[in-house]
Amino acid sequence: MTRNFLSIFLLILSVNFVASQGNLDSGFVKALTSFAIQLFQEVTATISDNAMISPLSVQSILSLAMYGAKGETKLTMFDTMTYSNFKNVSYETVEKNFKELVNNFTGSRALVMAFKIYATNLFQISPEFQQIAIDSFSSEIESMSFSYEDTTPEKVAAYINAWIANKTRNRILDAVSPYQFEKLNSTRLVLVNTIYFKDNWLIMFDSGATHRDKFYINAKKYIMTKFMVKSEDYLYAKFPELNASALILTYEKSPMEMIILLPNARTGLNTLKQNLQTIDWNSKSVKKRFKITPTDLKIPKWQFEFNIELKDYLKNMGMLLPFSELADFNGIFESLDNKTNSKISKVIHKTFINVNERGTEASAASVMTMEATSLTLNPQIFHVDHPFIFMLRYYNSICFIGQVTQF
Ligand SMILES: *[C@@H]1O[C@H](CO)[C@@H](O)[C@H](O)[C@H]1NC(C)=O
Ligand SMILES: *[C@@H]1O[C@H](CO)[C@@H](O)[C@H](O)[C@H]1NC(C)=O
Ligand SMILES: *[C@@H]1O[C@H](CO)[C@@H](O)[C@H](O)[C@H]1NC(C)=O
Ligand SMILES: *[C@@H]1O[C@H](CO)[C@@H](O)[C@H](O)[C@H]1NC(C)=O
Ligand SMILES: *[C@@H]1O[C@H](CO)[C@@H](O)[C@H](O)[C@H]1NC(C)=O
Ligand SMILES: *[C@@H]1O[C@H](CO)[C@@H](O)[C@H](O)[C@H]1NC(C)=O
Repeated sequence: MTRNFLSIFLLILSVNFVASQGNLDSGFVKALTSFAIQLFQEVTATISDNAMISPLSVQSILSLAMYGAKGETKLTMFDTMTYSNFKNVSYETVEKNFKELVNNFTGSRALVMAFKIYATNLFQISPEFQQIAIDSFSSEIESMSFSYEDTTPEKVAAYINAWIANKTRNRILDAVSPYQFEKLNSTRLVLVNTIYFKDNWLIMFDSGATHRDKFYINAKKYIMTKFMVKSEDYLYAKFPELNASALILTYEKSPMEMIILLPNARTGLNTLKQNLQTIDWNSKSVKKRFKITPTDLKIPKWQFEFNIELKDYLKNMGMLLPFSELADFNGIFESLDNKTNSKISKVIHKTFINVNERGTEASAASVMTMEATSLTLNPQIFHVDHPFIFMLRYYNSICFIGQVTQF
């Protein structure tokens, strides 16, 4: 499968716990899902090639940065991440819930999340920001020189990439390029988040049964690709209001689950995507709609990596101020004046996915650079032979979501 012929659209959604099961606040969980779907729609509206993003990774570094922001900049970030749309979600709630989430990941056998902050050694990090970064996000903080006298863009990029490669078991390589540190001496802060997930399916596919078959990229046109097949009991649900049906695949060690959302029509993907928000994916009623159903399952294998600069997408979603010269990130460094003020310059995002007979391996890295301001009996047929959406969920809630459009 060459990359050019593969047009799978994946979205890693937030890891969401259903209120009844998780220790997370329901408003926080809903904000993660809401931001995830919005970012997915925003990104997929402009890219038709393969793509995968991890909204959770993106939202976690944006949230961390938010605690260094002040005034309107902080409010804008809170609003754009949709926290303000939900009852009882405050800055304190967000911090408390990320702490819970990161701790939960740390105790998980299949899912790993890590944070790192590289800060300029020109200033002292403020104690408040440092405390939130370490206590709530379990971030490592390293003070370093971004001066041309001490280093080069190449060295800085290689240094950060080595950390990311280590945390993603070498699945995310060369996340940042030296070109992103062109303005090296105005770099103030680099915030990094990584997520790594690997687990086997609870019910593996038999590789001997995998065979080439047709995947319809539109109503009539198809391409040949490898399909995995299995006749088993799966959790299956119809979503007539979305003109789609859905199936859940579960994993061996982790409570993660993958949800495949298949439009009824071969050309139904865009409509499905537009209507994703009409379902409350965190609700118990959605969960109840999935019934154990004997199913004749046929699903393609896929693998690719993807990278994207998210700045313009985030700006389209309303996050303008934090990227502008008027940004106020005076909470990051200790300062009595505004000499230490910074703005977000880039949000680089890179992901990897591999879905095969054994299971799933998915990984993501987000790198935010901040720089100085200028300054039934009949088996249910479920043949995934045309564009579809899938999600990976952790504790009943969306964890990863994606879309496959062509090969
Ligand atoms: C993660 O959260 C779930 C749901 O609340 C809980 O059952 C599980 O024990 C937690 N795991 C860790 C390691 O905290
Ligand atoms: C919001 O918080 C109040 C007070 O703690 C509580 O009574 C209420 O049930 C909460 N609402 C939601 C939607 O969580
Ligand atoms: C990551 O770094 C740790 C500590 O240096 C090392 O033990 C581990 O093998 C590294 N992992 C990878 C995948 O490079
Ligand atoms: C960074 O370096 C460039 C040239 O190397 C110089 O023109 C610029 O003034 C420097 N900026 C700062 C903030 O030191
Ligand atoms: C639902 O999909 C069917 C094809 O299966 C199509 O004929 C119909 O127009 C779709 N309805 C909506 C509301 O999109
Ligand atoms: C620092 O910058 C912020 C935002 O631009 C502004 O509101 C504030 O008055 C400035 N503070 C000082 C001491 O200049």
